Amino acid sequence: MTNNGFFGPKKTITLKVLRYKPGAIDPPRYDTFRVEANAVTTVLDALEEIKATQDSSLLYRHSCHPASCGTCGMRVNGREQLGCVARLLEQGSDVVVVEPLASAPLIADLVVDMTPFAERFAPAGMRLVRESEFNPEAETPVGVETFTRYEDCIECNICLSACPVANTNPAFIGPAGLAAAYRALVTGERSPAEVFAYVDHDDGVWRCHSAMECSAVCPSNVDPGHKIMALRRELVTYKVKRFFKRG
Ligand code: FES
Repeated sequence: MTNNGFFGPKKTITLKVLRYKPGAIDPPRYDTFRVEANAVTTVLDALEEIKATQDSSLLYRHSCHPASCGTCGMRVNGREQLGCVARLLEQGSDVVVVEPLASAPLIADLVVDMTPFAERFAPAGMRLVRESEFNPEAETPVGVETFTRYEDCIECNICLSACPVANTNPAFIGPAGLAAAYRALVTGERSPAEVFAYVDHDDGVWRCHSAMECSAVCPSNVDPGHKIMALRRELVTYKVKRFFKRG
């Protein structure tokens, strides 16, 4: 440790970063870099420093920096995280392994193709670009103490990467799509018949093994795992009601 600054002592951290460039670095390998980190240094800060001072060919995605755009998802020491808020000194070791998200085709270094994620996600009725819903006049309704939020998915693909089912079954709709389907159902954005047609099959709501890894890694408190369980309950109720109506 060196240099006691405003954000505490600095420590040298070794980053092992997965590198892949089709035709140039192929097959993938791990390159080793060293950076000085203090208590607020994030993994994205470290990657930006490496790119600026050690290897300008390093590729990764980012945009906003405060965990709202969802572009900087990556695996850090085996755990899906947003690089822009993952603190380097909180990763449990002085050697930090940085890898791209799983369950998405690798394009180069830490950059994955988000197209398959968007294709699974979009049919749930969640528009990929939403209009602002900020309402400056909004007040907490009298007697309401807590809210369940439905609008917070930042489409980062982290849940899909952490999901053990999605990693072995590319046809599985996945946590984000199923959570969006539940939202579309309870908000009335889509009819029950539309939502259940989308999720009621072997690669839909029944494929989830309830591992809850998606909820554990979601950086936006969407809690997809419990939304999937709630969607199952809604679907069973819908089917039972239809059965007795017919009878
Ligand atoms: S850079 Fe936007 S979420 Fe990390």
